Formats: sequence, C-alpha cells, structure tokens
Amino acid sequence: MPVPQRRFHGDEELGKKDDDHKPGVKGPMGRAWQQRRLPNGPRRSNLKRIALGFLVVIGFYYFFKNMPTDLEQPRQRPSYVPPSGPNAPASKAVPNRYDFVTKTAEDETPDAPLHNFNGPIKFYQLASTLHGVKTRGSDLVNQNVLFAAASLKSAANLLPIACDTAIRARNYVHFALMGRDDISMDILRSVNGIGNDCNIVFHDARPDFSVQSSDWRMEVSSAAAFKHINDFVNPQATFVDSSGDEETWFSKGLKQRAGSLGRTVIELPENAEQNLMWITLLDSSSLSAWNKVSINIIIHAQPSASGSLIRLLESLKKADFFASSYPPLTIELPHDVDEPSKRYLERFKWPPKGDQSGSLLTLRHRIPQHSLNADESSARFLEGFWPNNPSSSHVLVLSPQVELSPLFYHYLKYTMLEYKYASNNPSAQNLLSLSLDLPSTYLNDTASFTPPSANSTVGGNVITTGTSQFLWQAPNSNAALFFGDKWVELHDFVAESLESQRTLPTPTTLNEKLVSKTYPSWMEHVLRLARARGYWTIYPSFETEDRLATLHNDLYQPPEEYSEEVNAEIDQSDELTADPDHYLSLKHSETSLIKTSILTMLPNKGDLPKVWDMPLLSWDGEQIVVDDFHRQAVNYSNVFRREIGGCGTDDMEKVRVDLLAGDLFCLKDQKT
Ligand SMILES: *[C@@H]1O[C@H](CO)[C@@H](O)[C@H](O)[C@H]1NC(C)=O
Ligand SMILES: *[C@@H]1O[C@H](CO)[C@@H](O)[C@H](O)[C@H]1NC(C)=O
Ligand SMILES: *[C@@H]1O[C@H](CO)[C@@H](O)[C@H](O)[C@H]1NC(C)=O
Repeated sequence: MPVPQRRFHGDEELGKKDDDHKPGVKGPMGRAWQQRRLPNGPRRSNLKRIALGFLVVIGFYYFFKNMPTDLEQPRQRPSYVPPSGPNAPASKAVPNRYDFVTKTAEDETPDAPLHNFNGPIKFYQLASTLHGVKTRGSDLVNQNVLFAAASLKSAANLLPIACDTAIRARNYVHFALMGRDDISMDILRSVNGIGNDCNIVFHDARPDFSVQSSDWRMEVSSAAAFKHINDFVNPQATFVDSSGDEETWFSKGLKQRAGSLGRTVIELPENAEQNLMWITLLDSSSLSAWNKVSINIIIHAQPSASGSLIRLLESLKKADFFASSYPPLTIELPHDVDEPSKRYLERFKWPPKGDQSGSLLTLRHRIPQHSLNADESSARFLEGFWPNNPSSSHVLVLSPQVELSPLFYHYLKYTMLEYKYASNNPSAQNLLSLSLDLPSTYLNDTASFTPPSANSTVGGNVITTGTSQFLWQAPNSNAALFFGDKWVELHDFVAESLESQRTLPTPTTLNEKLVSKTYPSWMEHVLRLARARGYWTIYPSFETEDRLATLHNDLYQPPEEYSEEVNAEIDQSDELTADPDHYLSLKHSETSLIKTSILTMLPNKGDLPKVWDMPLLSWDGEQIVVDDFHRQAVNYSNVFRREIGGCGTDDMEKVRVDLLAGDLFCLKDQKT
C-alpha cells in the first residue's frame, strides 16, 4: 500500500514556499500538522472508547449549551436584522486569514438561541487550515477525501470511519465541521477518541454566529464552506452521514454545491460502521467513481420455471444496496409466461422500497413461439443490454437458478471499484468480468474444479493464505458482472462471428464446442473472445463455506437452445444418477449464503489482493504466468483470424481498435 510520507517531498517544498509568503501559518497549527505526519505506528482506538467518547460529547454539548452565561466567553452579538428575508451575500464570503473574532463583553446569550440571524457569512477558522493543506490539494486529481458533518452525532458516526480510512494510508483524509454547535475542535477530537495517530486534517468550517444562524444561513454557509474546501483540497469524494442524524440544511446545501461542482458525495447509511468498512480500503480514484458507475441487472427467465425466478427476485429484494442507487432490472420473459410468474410479477416492485424515483423494472417479452437455435439465442441475449457509456455502465447477468446473498452488492461494488477504477491499474484493461459465483466444475462440466490457493502481500510481506480471489480466463454465466467496454466489444465480435459462420466453411480446429450445454450458447462466444484477447474474470474466494451466490438445481432447466439434447441425456441417465461424468455442476449441493459483513468472509480480512498477486488460470484450469497467458492469446488469435476471421496467411495484421473486434476478421475486406 502506498505510504503517503513518500509523496511529501514535493509538497513540502510547495507548502514551505506558501508559508514563507504568508505569515501566520507557521503557528501552533503548522507544528501540529508536522507532528501528525510522523510515521508513528497508527493504532485504532477501540469501539468502547468511541462509545464512551460519544457519551462524553453529549455531556459536553449540554454543558456548553446550558452553561451559565457569566462563565462563557461573551462573543460579539450580531446586530439582528429584522427577519424580512434572506439577505446574506454568502458566496462573497472569502476566507480571510487575518480575521479574528473580536471578543467584547456585551449582552447575554439567550438560553435557546433563536436561529434567526441572516447576516453575511464569514469563516474565521477555515482559512488557516486550508492554507496549510499540503496534500496536493490544488491538483484536480489527487488523493484527498473529505468527511463533512454538521451535527455532532453525525460527526461521531463519521469520525471512526475517517480514522480507519486515514490509517489505511491510501488517501489523505480531511474532516470538516460545518454545524451550529459551539464545541471546540480539540474537544470534538478527544471525545471521539481521535488521536494524532489518526492523521486526519481537521477544518473548522463553521460560520460566524453559527449558534444564532437561521437554517437558511446555515444551508448557504455549508455550500460556501464546501466551495472553499473544494478550492484548496479538491476532495475526490466527500462522505456525509445519511443515517438520519444529520441536519437537513447541511445535506441540502452541501449536496447541491457538490453536484454543481461535479464532486462525488458518498452518503453513509446508519450501519456503515458495521458492514460498510470496506469503503475505507478503497483509494480516492475508486471512491470518486462511486456514483458515476451504473450496474444494470439482466435476468433471462425460462419457460415454466417460475419457482427459480421468484426465488431469485426475492433474494434481490432482500439485498442491501446501502447508500447506492438501485440498479435497473431487466427480465427477459419467454413467449409463454406461466401463471405463477405472471401473478408474482403483477405485484413485484423494483426498487422494492417505494421511493419517488419511479420504477426501474423492464420486462421484455419474446414473440417467436418456436425455440431459438444457439446463434439466435446468443444474439437475442446480448441484445438485452447496451451501455450508454462503456466505461461506466456495466451489466450483471444472473441465471434464474441463482439465489444471491443479501450482501452480494457490497462485494460487487467493492471489487468493481477496486479492480476497475483504482488509480495506477493497467490490468483493468484485461478485466472482462467479475464473477459472484464460484463454480464447482470446469466449463466442460465433466470435471470438478478446485479453486487455487495463493500468496498475498500484506504490508510488504508475502504470506501464503489458503484461499484467494483468482483470475480465470473462463467466463461465468450464472452470476457475473460484465464491464460495458467488453460488452461492446463482445457485440462486435459476435456480429462478425455469426457473419463468418454464414459465409465461411466450417473451421477445422476451432469448431469444437468447449463449453458444456448446461450453459447458454453465448458463453462459447465469450470464451473465444477471452482467449483471443487474453481477458480474465475475477472469481471470489471465501474463508468459510458461505457464498455470495448459490445455485439451485432442483428446478434446473437447460438453456432453451440445448434443452432437447440435454433433457434427452438427463432422462436417459435416470435423473443424473447413472452417469457421474455428465452435467456434474447439476449435482453440486447448495451452499449457504453470506449474511455478515463481507470483510469477515473474504480472505485476508477483506483486503483485496493486487491483481498480480492472484493466481492466474487459463480457460482449461491450468495455472499459468502472465507472459505465457498473453503468448497463448497471440497464438489463439492467429489461428482464429485464419479459421473464423477468414484472413489469408499473407493478409496484413490489422490494427486493433478499442471496443471493436474487427482486427480479428477479414470478411469485410474481401467483400469490398
Ligand atoms: C507462494 O509462495 C511460495 C513460497 O513463498 C511459493 O513456493 C509458491 O509457489 C507460491 N504460490 C503461488 C500460487 O504463487
Ligand atoms: C474437462 O476439462 C478439464 C479441465 O480442463 C479436463 O481436465 C477434462 O479432461 C475435460 N473433460 C473432457 C471430457 O474433455
Ligand atoms: C504458440 O504457438 C507456437 C507454434 O504453434 C508454439 O510452439 C508455442 O508453444 C505456443 N505458445 C504458447 C504459449 O502456447
């Protein structure tokens, strides 16, 4: 993991220059900043301390709130503007480092502040910390993330997560308090058990007269404070509390301004500290993609298989989508929809919790009554999705046999953000898909598959763990997320392949069907593309028997395009008991599903391994090194070009174009 200290040389120069020109920064704040950066072994304060701290904060809060006025440092009272309407030119409030609160003994503060002050906004405390930012805050792309809160309860919810994020050292963590409460930042820190080891940069972003401010003034102030922080810190992601403890004016003001500035806001739900802690393991680049990615779910329902479809939809309904928006869901229905499915779908709502955003459910019904052949079926299936933006719009393919863990979306979003969107991640271009399913057999479905064990790197040391996520060239059709860019390429690849089948003689060596007929026909195309390009799928692995997805074979139906053949063989072999070598996956017993936080279920406490540390398997299960893997892909694509692409031996090798497979085919050139 990158240790931030390494990056400080350039920053320190910049920071120093900055300081030299601007007196006042090298105060006690500057020194505290230096101390915090010292690499003393970070130690996370335990939960008890935080809980205790939280009680103390409430105590302090009420103590200060009801403090006898003669004890309190009297502050200058604003001249109260008659509440005739909003009159604060908020956006003009520029942080001024030379402003100090002038304390004059004047009238008393009323017991319950009236929240009716609407005057111009000044941030007296913000400038000094913002000018002190030394973490490449001026770069548009950097490693800064911000946690922002107005209510003290929300601050207490966020701070442990902020501290963990800072300790992981992938990001520079900033915390901004934007609320009304008159608590000092030091007390906020200490009651929440945030020591110097947490390495958080605190910003006091409260406006002047916050205690007396109207809600409207506070909303404008939150927006303005975010703008100032954004100018100096450029946070790649801003975490706010959405558990219900937060002030409405804050959420509104900050989210609107962040939206207009194009900044990512991550809303942490109530139980974030229990099961969303994987978020602290992501880097700023992944976090900034949080709201930009969209996942579409597509389910290909089969005729008279209502039982499995209903079971899958029920498991989707129970899934936890935390603070993410619900993924749109498309169900492809066969021509004959059976009665139970019809009745179930009449009542089925997606998203399940009625919110204003409207329905995200699409039903597609097929017209042809006859069963489709393999090619028609492949084309039809792939047509079910098209990404509006190939780099951010992806598709989760689910077979109706699958039942999902309520936490599958945690794993999916976590691994997707890590392996597709982390910075310095060139291996992402070979990533075809993410599987939720850990298959029990090879693609030919006649031999059992055992996942490889592997080594992983923890803090620079290589340790051998029993289990590890692994890379496999074989795709998965039961439950897998295909990336938009690869899906677009697949469309082009299948289009050209089908054209070639129509016009060219049957290939000699590549004609063999490698994927079992228990899997849909489009899998064969995906496998060919993966072999020609050297693409892989990341498969999950778990410490226990629990899984993200389990397959139910009790209601198994073969893919329509193969149903006659498969059913004939199944019947012959007497309900799968006679021939142990056929359709082995159908005899696999169901597994239990993950119900607790995924961090506890994944190997290595959920710290995802680097791609290069994962074992790599070629499509037939052979463990292989990356160089050979790519050499095999070159070999395969040469054969493919000749046999299926219709290219002559003397044809020039064509240039590969992003998102297209045209370089593997020469058909069009011959026609023209
Ligand atoms: C794991 O590490 C051990 C020794 O460090 C090595 O012998 C073994 O081949 C490694 N396994 C994999 C899958 O890389
Ligand atoms: C199925 O695939 C496995 C792994 O590649 C292989 O060992 C086995 O021989 C194959 N079975 C058949 C019948 O081809
Ligand atoms: C690639 O093909 C050549 C010739 O057909 C063969 O000698 C070589 O072993 C193949 N390489 C790999 C990695 O399969």
